[in-house]
Amino acid sequence: MSRLIVVSNRVTPPQAEGAGSQGGLAMAISAALREYSGVWFGWSGQSTPEFTGQISTQSAGGVTVATMDLEEQDIQEYYNGYANRTLWPLFHYRIDLTQYERSYGAGYARVNARFADMLMPLIAGEDLIWVQDYHLIPLGRDLRERGAKNAIGFFLHIPWPARELLATLPRHRQLVEALFHYDVVGFHTEEWKNAFVSYVLHEAGGMQLSDGSVHCFGRTTMPRAFPIGIDAKGFAALKQSEVGAESYARMIESKAGRKMLLGVDRLDYSKGIDERLLAYERLLNESPELKREIFMLQISTATRTEVDAYQDMFARLDALCGRINGAHAEMDWIPVRNVHRMHSREELAGIYRAADVALVTPLRDGMNLVAKEFVAAQDEDDPGVLVLSRFAGAAQQMHEALIVNPFSQEDVADAIRRALAMPADERRKRWRALMEGVERDDVVAWRDSFVGTLEAARDKGRKPKPPRIAASRRDG
Ligand code: G6P
Repeated sequence: MSRLIVVSNRVTPPQAEGAGSQGGLAMAISAALREYSGVWFGWSGQSTPEFTGQISTQSAGGVTVATMDLEEQDIQEYYNGYANRTLWPLFHYRIDLTQYERSYGAGYARVNARFADMLMPLIAGEDLIWVQDYHLIPLGRDLRERGAKNAIGFFLHIPWPARELLATLPRHRQLVEALFHYDVVGFHTEEWKNAFVSYVLHEAGGMQLSDGSVHCFGRTTMPRAFPIGIDAKGFAALKQSEVGAESYARMIESKAGRKMLLGVDRLDYSKGIDERLLAYERLLNESPELKREIFMLQISTATRTEVDAYQDMFARLDALCGRINGAHAEMDWIPVRNVHRMHSREELAGIYRAADVALVTPLRDGMNLVAKEFVAAQDEDDPGVLVLSRFAGAAQQMHEALIVNPFSQEDVADAIRRALAMPADERRKRWRALMEGVERDDVVAWRDSFVGTLEAARDKGRKPKPPRIAASRRDG
């Protein structure tokens, strides 16, 4: 088996795995690498006064994690700048929040080149290289420029935007051209893949070949959808752990017989948290008989706090929760529990298990693994109901959820009412179908189908091509 080298901006050192702070990407990669001897390379999350080019490594369970520190200017321009002030909002359809600063683009290019410089000495001839997410789009090209002949794949964990939106990005062609240095370019869904292909065909003048690959900028790559999953069995087991069982028991006690609506998100504008709360407020106004029967637990953890668009989110969320609580609370009941504290994955599993309805209502999301974790944590006899935004990639797989338009308060409020009233039989039927999908399309299936496609692309590239002379003789 070839060695797998995974590169992502953020990495999770093996001993930190219990923490619940990471996004879905870090959790998925650590699960995907667990059975694969490999290297996981990325930024340590730390800054250094001057870039030293030093790599620190640690190993656990067959995985070597190698990280480097970045200097403050790099972090500002690459991570807080181009990645999170430019690409993230743009790819989540928020051109109103997108900042197009040349210095960010320069920092992004510089840090990608640093990644390539640091990675080259770690790469051996047969290694498969798998680059993750929007922070590192140019890395494949940078590695090729430094002589890497390996099979290199790229996976985007966020949506690919409509080409009309992407065209607002200065030097958008260069960004897309960089993707053509990968052998395989993966997306979570057909929808994001089709948006990419549409750009290639209609904006960049490329063409699609019969095997699905696309040709443009003088190169060919294979775009494909690989829906990411979770470590379903591992997550289901967490609810039985000591901490998981304890947090479940605590939740059940504090529910006091009421039904719990649950939201768990990084505090990100793409997650639709404000819109969800407004829908809940509407529900309380329209269906006062539900008061005291239900409450909402919204767990929102801080993220990217140096970026302006994230800074006022806490204030906005707290004000909204305060308003709802002020208007509706009674001396012994509050409608919203607004929690910013981070929870371990075990605690979360217990909380999911105790929830009656999960509200996963992003305005736009590459996949959303909270939806899958919620399903994996349910008890089969008495499962909760998943309310899921149609704009999450997960909605393209999880058809048995109650699919909603998160922009419509009425739609979300209706779905909550329907979830609360859903008979146990229907809940079980929907859950069984959802769980089957979560178990089948798990993180290992995701890894195997991506790596298999990358290997196939490598082997195809190695097949000896018929010599030109033979072709001309045949012609003649
Ligand atoms: C999303 C992105 C990941 C990112 C995660 C957490 O899931 O697709 O690449 O790691 O959010 O965000 P952060 O900026 O804290 O790494």
